Amino acid sequence: MAKKILTIAGSSLLLLTGCQSNQTSQNANEKKAKVTKEVWGKLPNGTDIDLYTLTNYNGLEAKITNYGGIVVSLMTPDKNGKLEDVVLGFETLDEYMKDSPYFGCIVGRYGNRIAKGEFELNGTTYHLAKNDGENHLHGGIKGFDKVVWEAVPDTSAGEASLNLTYVSPDGEEGYPGNLEVRVVYTLTNKDELKITYFATTDKQTPVNLTHHGYFNLTGGAKRDILGHELSINSNGFLPVDGGLIPTGELRALNGTPFNFKSPKPIGDDINFDDVQLQMAQGYDHNWILAAHKPGGQPELAATVLEPESGRYMEVWTTEPGLQFYSGNFLDGKYKGKGGVIYQDRWGLCLETQHFPDSPNHLNFPSTILVPGDHYSSTTIYKFSVKNEK
Ligand code: BGC
Repeated sequence: MAKKILTIAGSSLLLLTGCQSNQTSQNANEKKAKVTKEVWGKLPNGTDIDLYTLTNYNGLEAKITNYGGIVVSLMTPDKNGKLEDVVLGFETLDEYMKDSPYFGCIVGRYGNRIAKGEFELNGTTYHLAKNDGENHLHGGIKGFDKVVWEAVPDTSAGEASLNLTYVSPDGEEGYPGNLEVRVVYTLTNKDELKITYFATTDKQTPVNLTHHGYFNLTGGAKRDILGHELSINSNGFLPVDGGLIPTGELRALNGTPFNFKSPKPIGDDINFDDVQLQMAQGYDHNWILAAHKPGGQPELAATVLEPESGRYMEVWTTEPGLQFYSGNFLDGKYKGKGGVIYQDRWGLCLETQHFPDSPNHLNFPSTILVPGDHYSSTTIYKFSVKNEK
């Protein structure tokens, strides 16, 4: 790997490029995948937190921090080629540490809810941290979104990647077993943000890793996401109870406001007179993905078109479920990048995962990782434009 230390505006940057040769004539405008690193801030204990900038061959750019593996910004072109940020988030590390609704982070050990923070495994009842009323949400009080990951950039394959590793100790947030986790973000030269997840354990434990990006394809979060046209490759979803825990029913989509088999503006049915929508204050449910094959390749799960900008995003995954959360709890309390106030439905999450509360539903695909087995999962957010207007 070729390395170069640059000093820009007083801060040291480690520049890694995908090309081994001609390093001395490296030109900032050259079309080349690269990763740069800068110190972004400090934890209260003085630990430095870094911000990595991944740039692909076409100039798309993702800024990712090793605090929570958070994608802080993601610049993609609109139909006129204008690069703008398509994810919600904050400008500073301090704001992420203070209070974030999981903006852009890695979620683990268990993405989504586990009822009453309890599950039974091989005759033992485990008690997890309760951080969502009486339930456990997104890995607990200090989940993978709030830990410091060991980060190693990689451009050896000609693409900009960031390898993140974390060892979650036995008993963390109540989970059994030491869990070794690796997450690789790659901003591919096909304009995809590709996320691969790997894990191994020394005791049986539930694992359900996901990414919690809030997308707003207008660019710079100009307005809410109700005009975004969404399709989900699914025939059924999981109804929930008042605590947003699946009841165990698998409900067909036909004739319900949850039917996104063909592209539909998110705002079309969101206020429909429907108990499920009322309970979640909008969409906050898990869709069962139609194309999923256990152990198979990533399949198309969802598409999103923002008609004004022409930005189009496809979501591909190896996971069986997709949590579509329409940003119902963004109530104007967060001031994001560029001073934008994030109101209700200012961002949408498409979280690829196994089903919520699986450890308590034996009819759901298992989320239990066994010693000797290798957890692996891939999700791709692919960006392009559709010029329909
Ligand atoms: C959940 C929401 C929750 C949000 C937290 C989503 O994944 O489905 O219910 O409020 O995360 O920001």
